[in-house]
Amino acid sequence: MRGWRRSQDNDATMGAEHPRLITCTRDYRNELIAAECETLTGGRPNAWGIASGSADHVIDGAFVKQGVHLLAQADGLEQLVSHVAELGLHQDEFRIEWLHAGSPEDRRWEATIAIADQIKGRPNLNKPRHRFLLVAEAGGMAFGSVVVEASRSYRKHDRKPCHTPSSLPSRLARCLVNLVARDVKSIVDPCCGTGSILLEAAAIGLQARGGDWNPRMVAMSRQNVDTFGYEIQLGCADATDASDTADAVVTDLPYGRGSEISEKVLQQIIAQSRALAPLAVFVAGTDVSQWIINAGYHQVETYRLLKSRGFSRYIHRAWREGGAPAKLQQVRQEP
Ligand SMILES: C[S@@+](CC[C@H](N)C(=O)[O-])C[C@H]1O[C@@H](n2cnc3c(N)ncnc32)[C@H](O)[C@@H]1O
Repeated sequence: MRGWRRSQDNDATMGAEHPRLITCTRDYRNELIAAECETLTGGRPNAWGIASGSADHVIDGAFVKQGVHLLAQADGLEQLVSHVAELGLHQDEFRIEWLHAGSPEDRRWEATIAIADQIKGRPNLNKPRHRFLLVAEAGGMAFGSVVVEASRSYRKHDRKPCHTPSSLPSRLARCLVNLVARDVKSIVDPCCGTGSILLEAAAIGLQARGGDWNPRMVAMSRQNVDTFGYEIQLGCADATDASDTADAVVTDLPYGRGSEISEKVLQQIIAQSRALAPLAVFVAGTDVSQWIINAGYHQVETYRLLKSRGFSRYIHRAWREGGAPAKLQQVRQEP
């Protein structure tokens, strides 16, 4: 098998108590998903959205979906069936889910039934109390127990009362916060608009502060924040001159059709953000990595998020200082 299995075999740092297989939303165009998975779990997903990593933070995932405790692996179905039989599993009301990951044959039903026959207990396909995962890759098969699912708590924020056409989808906002969440306790969004990023930060227990130069936006953020009962400091401020420091800046820069913000102001917002926090995530409508480097950040990674009809968002993660040499990482895309 490729990818996750090879890295798992080589990883002596993962204790046996940790579930080892992570699944993500599968979208080969989307480098952002890989970055979220790597940041949350320590494992980089292969083209099929499968990684080897820690499941401790899967619950907060946006595009990271499941943590799976691997129970058996084999080169083929017959061998896998015999390994699962040796486990002597007893589980009532279970369901086996299928993840096709490039196996040349689709033996879904044959494989699922053969494995289910090795488990003592009744299946329950509609409302299972326990879920197993069966993975069919080109080089073999694996079977595991789903031990954690992303809670998708970001979904409730899709019902926030105040929106504008520029409001970020809550799932994307959660993913942006996840790009820094493991390293920080607080974030600031100096261009907070309706507060989508702030809601996600608060939902996963980070301290959050927001500002916007438009009082109408601050009022909308306030209403959204109050609706969900979060404690978030908000204020009217110009991001080119913001002074609220935090462990990370996470912000969606003013850009796109209808935005009259000049490039000079965008560059000033980026430069000021560098003074606010050592780590930053910037969303923009174009690749602004050169501006980020020009603002004095030491390193930047850029992920392009393709959308329908060709529109892209560019997500940049930048470090003010660090051990690695300053470099611009080009936009990366899976083949
Ligand atoms: C792309 S929108 C942010 C949308 C936000 N993420 C949301 O989900 O609603 C950019 C925001 O930056 C604000 N903005 C533009 N220039 C600014 C400045 N100099 N200082 C602070 N806010 C600014 C705009 O008012 C707008 O609300």
